[in-house]
Amino acid sequence: MLVLGLMSGTSADGIDAALARISGAPPKLKTKLLGHTSVKFPTALRKEILHVAEGRLITANELSQLNFRLGEVFADAALEACARFRVSRSRVDLVGSHGQTVFHQGRPAFFFGRKMASTLQIGEPAVIAARTGITTVGDFRPADMALGGQGAPLVPYADYLLYRHAKLGRVSLNLGGIANITIIPAAAKPSQIFAFDTGPANMLIDALVTHFTRGRQRYDKDAKTAMTGRGIPALLDELMRDPYFRQKPPKSTGREYYGDAYVKKVLALGERHRAKPADVIRAATFLTALSVVDALCSFVLPKVKIHQLIVSGGGARNPLILAQIEAALPGIEVLPSSRFGVPEDAKEAFAFALLAYEAFHQRAANLPSATGARGPAILGKISYAPPRG
Ligand SMILES: Nc1ncnc2c1ncn2[C@@H]1O[C@H](COP(=O)(O)OP(=O)(O)O)[C@@H](O)[C@H]1O
Ligand SMILES: [Mg+2]
Repeated sequence: MLVLGLMSGTSADGIDAALARISGAPPKLKTKLLGHTSVKFPTALRKEILHVAEGRLITANELSQLNFRLGEVFADAALEACARFRVSRSRVDLVGSHGQTVFHQGRPAFFFGRKMASTLQIGEPAVIAARTGITTVGDFRPADMALGGQGAPLVPYADYLLYRHAKLGRVSLNLGGIANITIIPAAAKPSQIFAFDTGPANMLIDALVTHFTRGRQRYDKDAKTAMTGRGIPALLDELMRDPYFRQKPPKSTGREYYGDAYVKKVLALGERHRAKPADVIRAATFLTALSVVDALCSFVLPKVKIHQLIVSGGGARNPLILAQIEAALPGIEVLPSSRFGVPEDAKEAFAFALLAYEAFHQRAANLPSATGARGPAILGKISYAPPRG
Protein backbone atom coordinates (compact mmCIF):
# COMPACT_ATOMS: atom_id res chain seq x y z
CA MET A 1 0.00 0.00 0.00
CA LEU A 2 0.99 3.61 -0.53
CA VAL A 3 0.25 5.41 2.72
CA LEU A 4 0.53 9.12 3.45
CA GLY A 5 1.15 10.06 7.08
CA LEU A 6 0.22 13.55 8.33
CA MET A 7 1.44 14.97 11.61
CA SER A 8 1.35 18.22 13.48
CA GLY A 9 2.95 18.15 16.90
CA THR A 10 2.83 20.41 19.95
CA SER A 11 5.03 23.00 18.20
CA ALA A 12 2.17 23.56 15.74
CA ASP A 13 4.84 24.77 13.30
CA GLY A 14 3.20 23.05 10.34
CA ILE A 15 2.02 19.75 8.94
CA ASP A 16 4.67 17.15 8.19
CA ALA A 17 3.76 14.68 5.46
CA ALA A 18 5.49 11.38 4.73
CA LEU A 19 4.66 9.00 1.91
CA ALA A 20 5.60 5.38 2.52
CA ARG A 21 5.25 2.11 0.70
CA ILE A 22 4.26 -0.52 3.26
CA SER A 23 3.69 -4.22 2.79
CA GLY A 24 3.45 -7.41 4.84
CA ALA A 25 2.71 -7.74 8.53
CA PRO A 26 4.85 -7.53 11.68
CA PRO A 27 7.37 -8.87 12.41
CA LYS A 28 7.96 -9.04 8.63
CA LEU A 29 6.55 -5.64 7.82
CA LYS A 30 8.39 -3.90 4.98
CA THR A 31 8.49 -0.11 4.74
CA LYS A 32 10.11 2.36 2.42
CA LEU A 33 9.87 6.11 2.73
CA LEU A 34 9.24 7.61 -0.71
CA GLY A 35 9.10 11.28 0.16
CA HIS A 36 8.51 13.79 2.88
CA THR A 37 7.66 17.45 3.04
CA SER A 38 6.22 20.08 5.34
CA VAL A 39 3.37 22.54 4.82
CA LYS A 40 3.00 25.63 7.04
CA PHE A 41 -0.22 26.60 8.79
CA PRO A 42 -1.78 29.92 7.80
CA THR A 43 -0.44 32.31 10.50
CA ALA A 44 -3.83 33.30 11.95
CA LEU A 45 -4.86 29.67 12.24
CA ARG A 46 -1.64 28.74 14.02
CA LYS A 47 -2.31 31.46 16.57
CA GLU A 48 -5.81 30.14 17.13
CA ILE A 49 -4.50 26.58 17.56
CA LEU A 50 -1.96 27.72 20.15
CA HIS A 51 -4.65 29.67 22.04
CA VAL A 52 -6.98 26.69 22.14
CA ALA A 53 -4.17 24.32 23.14
CA GLU A 54 -3.25 26.70 25.97
CA GLY A 55 -6.70 26.20 27.43
CA ARG A 56 -8.23 29.56 26.49
CA LEU A 57 -12.00 29.46 26.80
CA ILE A 58 -13.76 29.04 23.49
CA THR A 59 -17.28 28.04 22.56
CA ALA A 60 -18.30 24.64 21.24
CA ASN A 61 -19.18 26.52 18.07
CA GLU A 62 -15.56 27.64 17.59
CA LEU A 63 -14.11 24.24 18.43
CA SER A 64 -16.43 22.52 15.98
CA GLN A 65 -15.61 25.00 13.23
CA LEU A 66 -11.89 24.73 13.93
CA ASN A 67 -12.11 20.93 13.70
CA PHE A 68 -13.58 21.11 10.21
CA ARG A 69 -11.35 24.00 9.12
CA LEU A 70 -8.26 22.05 10.16
CA GLY A 71 -9.65 19.05 8.28
CA GLU A 72 -9.46 21.23 5.16
CA VAL A 73 -5.95 22.38 6.01
CA PHE A 74 -4.79 18.79 6.48
CA ALA A 75 -6.49 17.81 3.21
CA ASP A 76 -4.74 20.68 1.40
CA ALA A 77 -1.43 19.55 2.91
CA ALA A 78 -2.07 15.99 1.69
CA LEU A 79 -2.82 17.20 -1.85
CA GLU A 80 0.15 19.58 -1.83
CA ALA A 81 2.40 16.72 -0.68
CA CYS A 82 1.15 14.47 -3.51
CA ALA A 83 1.84 17.25 -6.00
CA ARG A 84 5.37 17.75 -4.65
CA PHE A 85 6.03 14.00 -4.77
CA ARG A 86 4.52 13.85 -8.28
CA VAL A 87 2.23 11.05 -7.17
CA SER A 88 -1.37 11.07 -8.33
CA ARG A 89 -3.76 11.06 -5.39
CA SER A 90 -5.57 8.09 -6.95
CA ARG A 91 -2.45 6.01 -6.34
CA VAL A 92 -2.43 6.71 -2.62
CA ASP A 93 -4.33 3.98 -0.77
CA LEU A 94 -4.58 5.44 2.67
CA VAL A 95 -3.99 8.56 4.74
CA GLY A 96 -3.04 8.40 8.41
CA SER A 97 -3.66 11.75 10.07
CA HIS A 98 -2.68 12.36 13.65
CA GLY A 99 -4.50 15.69 13.72
CA GLN A 100 -3.70 18.56 16.05
CA THR A 101 -3.83 17.92 19.77
CA VAL A 102 -5.80 20.64 21.53
CA PHE A 103 -6.18 18.81 24.83
CA HIS A 104 -4.48 15.83 26.42
CA GLN A 105 -5.12 14.57 29.95
CA GLY A 106 -3.12 11.34 30.07
CA ARG A 107 -3.55 10.62 33.77
CA PRO A 108 -7.06 10.54 35.22
CA ALA A 109 -8.19 13.71 37.01
CA PHE A 110 -11.45 14.38 38.87
CA PHE A 111 -14.33 15.43 36.65
CA PHE A 112 -17.93 15.41 37.90
CA GLY A 113 -17.14 13.04 40.73
CA ARG A 114 -15.15 10.56 38.72
CA LYS A 115 -11.55 10.32 37.64
CA MET A 116 -11.28 10.74 33.87
CA ALA A 117 -8.49 10.81 31.33
CA SER A 118 -9.19 12.06 27.81
CA THR A 119 -7.65 13.48 24.70
CA LEU A 120 -8.76 15.52 21.70
CA GLN A 121 -7.08 15.70 18.29
CA ILE A 122 -8.84 17.84 15.72
CA GLY A 123 -8.66 18.11 11.93
CA GLU A 124 -11.76 16.17 10.87
CA PRO A 125 -10.72 12.95 9.06
CA ALA A 126 -14.06 12.77 7.19
CA VAL A 127 -13.18 16.10 5.57
CA ILE A 128 -9.73 14.80 4.61
CA ALA A 129 -11.28 11.66 3.08
CA ALA A 130 -13.87 13.66 1.14
CA ARG A 131 -11.47 16.32 -0.13
CA THR A 132 -8.67 13.96 -1.11
CA GLY A 133 -10.75 10.96 -2.14
CA ILE A 134 -8.43 8.85 0.01
CA THR A 135 -9.67 6.72 2.91
CA THR A 136 -8.34 8.32 6.07
CA VAL A 137 -7.52 6.94 9.49
CA GLY A 138 -7.54 9.48 12.32
CA ASP A 139 -8.11 9.67 16.08
CA PHE A 140 -5.43 7.19 17.04
CA ARG A 141 -5.23 7.91 20.76
CA PRO A 142 -8.72 7.28 22.23
CA ALA A 143 -8.72 3.47 21.79
CA ASP A 144 -5.66 3.16 24.00
CA MET A 145 -7.09 5.51 26.63
CA ALA A 146 -10.37 3.62 26.66
CA LEU A 147 -8.28 0.69 27.92
CA GLY A 148 -6.79 2.76 30.70
CA GLY A 149 -3.68 3.83 28.80
CA GLN A 150 -2.33 7.38 28.55
CA GLY A 151 -2.94 7.41 24.79
CA ALA A 152 0.69 8.38 24.39
CA PRO A 153 3.29 7.78 23.25
CA LEU A 154 2.24 5.93 20.10
CA VAL A 155 5.40 6.33 18.03
CA PRO A 156 7.21 3.55 19.97
CA TYR A 157 5.42 1.00 17.80
CA ALA A 158 7.28 2.44 14.79
CA ASP A 159 10.49 2.73 16.80
CA TYR A 160 10.24 -0.94 17.66
CA LEU A 161 9.77 -2.02 14.05
CA LEU A 162 12.47 0.32 12.73
CA TYR A 163 15.20 0.09 15.35
CA ARG A 164 14.98 -3.28 17.10
CA HIS A 165 18.40 -4.96 16.99
CA ALA A 166 19.57 -8.41 18.07
CA LYS A 167 22.71 -7.20 19.86
CA LEU A 168 22.41 -3.43 20.33
CA GLY A 169 20.33 -1.62 22.91
CA ARG A 170 18.91 1.55 21.40
CA VAL A 171 17.07 4.66 22.48
CA SER A 172 15.00 6.64 20.01
CA LEU A 173 14.82 10.33 20.97
CA ASN A 174 12.36 12.67 19.28
CA LEU A 175 12.97 16.36 19.89
CA GLY A 176 9.66 17.96 18.96
CA GLY A 177 7.84 20.56 21.01
CA ILE A 178 8.25 18.02 23.81
CA ALA A 179 11.15 15.56 24.04
CA ASN A 180 10.32 11.89 24.25
CA ILE A 181 12.29 8.67 24.29
CA THR A 182 11.62 5.05 23.40
CA ILE A 183 13.84 2.39 24.91
CA ILE A 184 14.48 -0.67 22.75
CA PRO A 185 16.69 -3.16 24.60
CA ALA A 186 18.78 -5.59 22.52
CA ALA A 187 16.61 -8.43 21.14
CA ALA A 188 13.58 -6.83 22.78
CA LYS A 189 10.10 -8.31 22.78
CA PRO A 190 7.30 -5.74 22.35
CA SER A 191 6.51 -6.05 26.06
CA GLN A 192 10.03 -4.85 26.93
CA ILE A 193 9.68 -1.53 25.10
CA PHE A 194 9.08 1.45 27.29
CA ALA A 195 8.79 5.11 26.47
CA PHE A 196 7.97 8.44 28.02
CA ASP A 197 8.18 12.21 27.60
CA THR A 198 11.32 13.59 29.23
CA GLY A 199 10.15 17.22 29.30
CA PRO A 200 10.09 20.36 27.18
CA ALA A 201 12.18 20.69 24.03
CA ASN A 202 11.59 23.16 21.18
CA MET A 203 8.33 24.40 22.66
CA LEU A 204 10.09 26.36 25.38
CA ILE A 205 12.92 27.57 23.14
CA ASP A 206 10.44 28.68 20.45
CA ALA A 207 8.27 30.51 22.98
CA LEU A 208 11.28 32.39 24.39
CA VAL A 209 12.60 33.33 20.95
CA THR A 210 9.14 34.53 19.89
CA HIS A 211 8.85 36.55 23.10
CA PHE A 212 12.26 38.23 22.90
CA THR A 213 12.01 39.06 19.19
CA ARG A 214 8.34 40.08 19.48
CA GLY A 215 7.44 37.45 16.93
CA ARG A 216 10.06 38.42 14.34
CA GLN A 217 11.75 35.08 14.85
CA ARG A 218 9.96 31.84 15.71
CA TYR A 219 12.82 29.55 16.60
CA ASP A 220 16.55 29.61 17.29
CA LYS A 221 17.86 28.43 13.94
CA ASP A 222 20.97 26.27 14.41
CA ALA A 223 21.13 27.49 18.04
CA LYS A 224 22.72 30.73 16.84
CA THR A 225 21.28 32.79 19.69
CA ALA A 226 21.86 30.20 22.42
CA MET A 227 25.51 29.99 21.38
CA THR A 228 26.03 33.68 22.08
CA GLY A 229 24.46 33.35 25.54
CA ARG A 230 26.31 33.14 28.83
CA GLY A 231 25.93 30.01 30.95
CA ILE A 232 24.22 30.68 34.30
CA PRO A 233 24.51 27.45 36.32
CA ALA A 234 22.20 28.62 39.13
CA LEU A 235 19.43 29.34 36.61
CA LEU A 236 19.85 25.96 34.97
CA ASP A 237 19.84 24.26 38.40
CA GLU A 238 16.56 25.89 39.27
CA LEU A 239 15.01 24.88 35.96
CA MET A 240 16.17 21.30 36.51
CA ARG A 241 14.30 21.21 39.84
CA ASP A 242 10.97 20.92 38.01
CA PRO A 243 9.02 18.08 39.70
CA TYR A 244 8.10 16.56 36.33
CA PHE A 245 11.69 15.33 35.91
CA ARG A 246 11.49 13.33 39.16
CA GLN A 247 8.13 11.73 38.34
CA LYS A 248 8.56 8.05 37.47
CA PRO A 249 7.60 6.85 33.98
CA PRO A 250 5.27 6.13 32.28
CA LYS A 251 4.52 9.85 32.02
CA SER A 252 3.53 12.28 29.31
CA THR A 253 3.27 16.03 29.15
CA GLY A 254 2.41 18.86 26.78
CA ARG A 255 1.29 22.42 26.34
CA GLU A 256 -1.07 22.09 29.34
CA TYR A 257 1.98 21.97 31.61
CA TYR A 258 4.79 23.58 29.60
CA GLY A 259 2.68 26.31 27.99
CA ASP A 260 2.38 30.04 28.59
CA ALA A 261 2.32 29.95 32.39
CA TYR A 262 5.53 27.92 32.47
CA VAL A 263 7.23 30.27 29.99
CA LYS A 264 6.30 33.22 32.24
CA LYS A 265 7.91 31.41 35.17
CA VAL A 266 11.10 30.87 33.17
CA LEU A 267 11.16 34.55 32.16
CA ALA A 268 10.75 35.62 35.80
CA LEU A 269 13.56 33.27 36.86
CA GLY A 270 15.74 34.72 34.12
CA GLU A 271 15.15 38.22 35.43
CA ARG A 272 16.01 37.16 38.95
CA HIS A 273 19.34 35.83 37.68
CA ARG A 274 19.88 38.97 35.58
CA ALA A 275 19.98 36.85 32.45
CA LYS A 276 19.98 38.48 29.02
CA PRO A 277 17.62 37.05 26.36
CA ALA A 278 20.39 34.94 24.82
CA ASP A 279 21.29 33.60 28.30
CA VAL A 280 17.71 32.46 28.90
CA ILE A 281 17.53 30.83 25.47
CA ARG A 282 20.83 29.11 26.20
CA ALA A 283 19.49 27.85 29.53
CA ALA A 284 16.34 26.49 27.83
CA THR A 285 18.52 24.74 25.24
CA PHE A 286 20.71 23.17 27.93
CA LEU A 287 17.58 22.27 29.91
CA THR A 288 16.33 20.25 26.95
CA ALA A 289 19.61 18.34 26.67
CA LEU A 290 20.12 17.85 30.41
CA SER A 291 16.56 16.69 31.10
CA VAL A 292 16.98 14.03 28.41
CA VAL A 293 20.31 12.93 29.90
CA ASP A 294 18.87 13.00 33.41
CA ALA A 295 15.90 10.85 32.37
CA LEU A 296 18.26 8.32 30.79
CA CYS A 297 20.53 8.20 33.85
CA SER A 298 17.64 7.95 36.34
CA PHE A 299 15.19 5.65 34.62
CA VAL A 300 16.94 3.82 31.77
CA LEU A 301 20.68 3.16 32.06
CA PRO A 302 20.51 1.46 35.49
CA LYS A 303 18.24 -1.19 33.92
CA VAL A 304 19.16 -1.46 30.24
CA LYS A 305 22.46 -1.46 28.36
CA ILE A 306 22.27 1.22 25.65
CA HIS A 307 24.69 1.42 22.72
CA GLN A 308 23.05 3.94 20.41
CA LEU A 309 20.81 6.99 20.68
CA ILE A 310 18.87 7.77 17.50
CA VAL A 311 17.66 11.36 17.21
CA SER A 312 14.74 12.75 15.20
CA GLY A 313 12.41 15.78 15.24
CA GLY A 314 13.15 19.44 14.48
CA GLY A 315 15.45 19.63 17.51
CA ALA A 316 17.81 17.15 15.84
CA ARG A 317 18.89 20.23 13.85
CA ASN A 318 19.90 22.06 17.03
CA PRO A 319 23.67 21.53 17.28
CA LEU A 320 23.89 22.72 20.89
CA ILE A 321 21.32 20.21 22.15
CA LEU A 322 23.08 17.39 20.32
CA ALA A 323 26.56 18.41 21.46
CA GLN A 324 25.43 18.54 25.10
CA ILE A 325 23.75 15.15 24.93
CA GLU A 326 26.78 13.61 23.26
CA ALA A 327 29.18 15.08 25.79
CA ALA A 328 27.12 13.84 28.73
CA LEU A 329 26.78 10.27 27.48
CA PRO A 330 30.24 8.92 26.69
CA GLY A 331 30.09 5.40 25.31
CA ILE A 332 26.74 5.94 23.62
CA GLU A 333 26.79 6.65 19.92
CA VAL A 334 24.47 9.53 18.93
CA LEU A 335 23.06 9.13 15.41
CA PRO A 336 20.48 10.98 13.27
CA SER A 337 17.40 8.94 12.29
CA SER A 338 18.23 9.51 8.61
CA ARG A 339 20.94 6.88 9.06
CA PHE A 340 18.07 4.40 9.47
CA GLY A 341 16.08 5.43 6.42
CA VAL A 342 13.78 7.98 8.02
CA PRO A 343 14.88 11.63 7.92
CA GLU A 344 14.63 13.65 11.16
CA ASP A 345 11.65 15.70 9.96
CA ALA A 346 9.71 12.75 8.60
CA LYS A 347 9.85 10.39 11.55
CA GLU A 348 6.54 11.10 13.28
CA ALA A 349 4.53 11.51 10.06
CA PHE A 350 6.02 8.22 8.91
CA ALA A 351 4.95 6.60 12.19
CA PHE A 352 1.33 7.63 11.60
CA ALA A 353 1.42 6.21 8.09
CA LEU A 354 2.50 2.95 9.69
CA LEU A 355 -0.18 3.15 12.38
CA ALA A 356 -2.84 3.80 9.72
CA TYR A 357 -1.67 0.75 7.80
CA GLU A 358 -1.99 -1.35 10.96
CA ALA A 359 -5.46 0.07 11.72
CA PHE A 360 -6.58 -0.72 8.19
CA HIS A 361 -5.52 -4.33 8.74
CA GLN A 362 -7.20 -4.42 12.15
CA ARG A 363 -4.01 -5.05 14.04
CA ALA A 364 -3.26 -3.66 17.47
CA ALA A 365 -0.53 -1.01 17.41
CA ASN A 366 -0.29 0.34 20.92
CA LEU A 367 2.45 -0.91 23.19
CA PRO A 368 0.79 -1.34 26.59
CA SER A 369 4.23 -1.24 28.23
CA ALA A 370 4.63 2.29 26.83
CA THR A 371 1.13 3.68 27.32
CA GLY A 372 0.02 1.80 30.43
CA ALA A 373 -3.07 0.36 28.73
CA ARG A 374 -4.59 -2.84 30.08
CA GLY A 375 -4.00 -4.59 26.77
CA PRO A 376 -3.60 -4.30 23.01
CA ALA A 377 -5.82 -1.86 21.12
CA ILE A 378 -6.50 -1.32 17.44
CA LEU A 379 -5.80 2.38 17.10
CA GLY A 380 -7.69 4.83 14.94
CA LYS A 381 -11.05 5.42 13.32
CA ILE A 382 -11.59 4.98 9.62
CA SER A 383 -13.29 7.61 7.45
CA TYR A 384 -13.89 6.03 4.06
CA ALA A 385 -13.41 7.94 0.84
CA PRO A 386 -16.68 8.66 -0.96
CA PRO A 387 -17.44 5.87 -3.46
CA ARG A 388 -16.01 6.62 -6.92
CA GLY A 389 -18.93 7.11 -9.31
N1 LIG B 1 17.75 24.34 12.06
C1 LIG B 1 17.15 24.31 13.27
N2 LIG B 1 17.79 24.75 14.37
C2 LIG B 1 17.20 24.73 15.59
N3 LIG B 1 15.94 24.29 15.81
C3 LIG B 1 15.25 23.81 14.74
C4 LIG B 1 15.81 23.79 13.43
N4 LIG B 1 14.85 23.27 12.59
C5 LIG B 1 13.77 23.00 13.36
N5 LIG B 1 13.98 23.33 14.65
C6 LIG B 1 13.04 23.23 15.77
O1 LIG B 1 12.15 22.16 15.58
C7 LIG B 1 10.81 22.58 15.84
C8 LIG B 1 9.82 21.71 15.11
O2 LIG B 1 10.05 20.39 15.46
P1 LIG B 1 8.97 19.26 15.19
O3 LIG B 1 9.69 17.97 15.23
O4 LIG B 1 8.18 19.60 13.96
O5 LIG B 1 8.06 19.40 16.49
P2 LIG B 1 6.51 19.05 16.68
O6 LIG B 1 6.40 17.57 16.49
O7 LIG B 1 6.21 19.49 18.08
O8 LIG B 1 5.77 19.84 15.64
C9 LIG B 1 10.80 24.03 15.43
O9 LIG B 1 9.74 24.73 16.04
C10 LIG B 1 12.19 24.49 15.88
O10 LIG B 1 12.17 24.87 17.22
MG1 LIG C 1 6.13 20.06 13.71
